[in-house]
Amino acid sequence: MRFSVVTSYLLCAAASYANAASLFGLSFPEPPSANKPIPGDSPLLQCDVDQSQSLDVTQVNLVPNPPQRGENLTIAAAGVLQTTIEEGAYIDIEVRLGYIKLISQTYDLCEQLEENDIDGLKCPIEEGVYELNKIVEIPSEVPPGKYSVIARAYNVDDEQITCLTGEVIFPAY
Ligand SMILES: *[C@@H]1O[C@H](CO)[C@@H](O)[C@H](O)[C@H]1NC(C)=O
Repeated sequence: MRFSVVTSYLLCAAASYANAASLFGLSFPEPPSANKPIPGDSPLLQCDVDQSQSLDVTQVNLVPNPPQRGENLTIAAAGVLQTTIEEGAYIDIEVRLGYIKLISQTYDLCEQLEENDIDGLKCPIEEGVYELNKIVEIPSEVPPGKYSVIARAYNVDDEQITCLTGEVIFPAY
């Protein structure tokens, strides 16, 4: 008897805490499991390194590093892909500003690659060695603060392609 009262009290407390947290846009950090630095000049780390991943990101260079608001960012990345990325592959992206979750969304990976014109890549993307370059403009309107990003990409069969994470601080002008 006593046990179930205590248990249900705890469950209620946990549930209302979770609700309150989500109301305020807070969320329980779900830290990526083990991280490993990616060679090159960038704040990016490979995450979930204890999971098998079909993309080995061998190098990422950002110019400038760290990225600056109101400037163009040049991204050069290299990697070895061990499986073909098929239509239906997806990417879960989470972006936080401090503890506030700004974005937590799943995107169609093939659509994103086409829309952002990453060196004309189109699904299916065959196994092989890739070197990609992309310039993106970071708007000066981006609010200052500490941003953290986790991106996990999966193939259509839910096999993990990669997990990337990193933090960037945009200081106030
Ligand atoms: C970024 O590059 C584009 C062309 O590549 C240029 O038109 C634009 O002015 C650049 N922006 C900044 C902030 O340097």
